[in-house]
Amino acid sequence: MPDITLPLRTERLVLRRFDGSDLDAFHAYHSLPETARFLPGPAKTYTQSMERVGRYANFVFEKEGDWVCLAIEAKGQPGLMGEVVLKWLPGRGQAEVGWTLAPAARGKGYGTEAAAAVMELGFEELGFHRIEARLDELNTASASLCERLGMRLEARFVEKWHYKGQWATEVVYAVLAIEWRATRSR
Ligand SMILES: CC(C)(COP(=O)(O)OP(=O)(O)OC[C@H]1O[C@@H](n2cnc3c(N)ncnc32)[C@H](O)[C@@H]1OP(=O)(O)O)[C@@H](O)C(=O)NCCC(=O)NCCS
Repeated sequence: MPDITLPLRTERLVLRRFDGSDLDAFHAYHSLPETARFLPGPAKTYTQSMERVGRYANFVFEKEGDWVCLAIEAKGQPGLMGEVVLKWLPGRGQAEVGWTLAPAARGKGYGTEAAAAVMELGFEELGFHRIEARLDELNTASASLCERLGMRLEARFVEKWHYKGQWATEVVYAVLAIEWRATRSR
């Protein structure tokens, strides 16, 4: 894999490596049950946020199972608004994307803009062939984000997970590099 040059810049955002100063802002949105609703595990404790920010800040991307973990900031306005991640999956050319925004950063298209940038990195710099997203069918905000990115609904696994005290149906969205390039060049 080639080196990843950070930060990534989009029209409105800077996607950069996390650092220790992100901890309080990260914890502010990850301690909310509303944020945790469709993420694995309960709302984070402060020490869980510390562990996660430390892991994100020190990410390496060298082998299957590794993650690119990027902090989302508005251009000209330093301060953590959320994160976008790309996981290197087993199998040739496979990756998974994920996203979380602080409540105040939602409804502005920042999630789509950040995810598009990390997918562009995944396809064009890192050479992935296919990028997927896996979500709870009830997570309609995430499904809309996948659709805005031009991802295709490929699978629906009925009651695949049990979390948050109930069974959840998983849906899988995906896009191929060739499809991504075709939509970008339009
Ligand atoms: C999933 C999540 C990131 C989606 O956030 P979001 O704000 O809906 O998504 P975006 O940032 O792409 O913003 C899109 C919204 O902004 C609106 N918008 C406003 N200005 C916009 C612009 N300039 N460009 C694009 N969209 C814009 C869109 O119309 C859309 O709103 P709508 O859904 O009411 O139509 C957010 O709900 C979240 O963090 N949830 C908690 C964590 C989570 O569940 N993560 C995913 C686990 S699978």
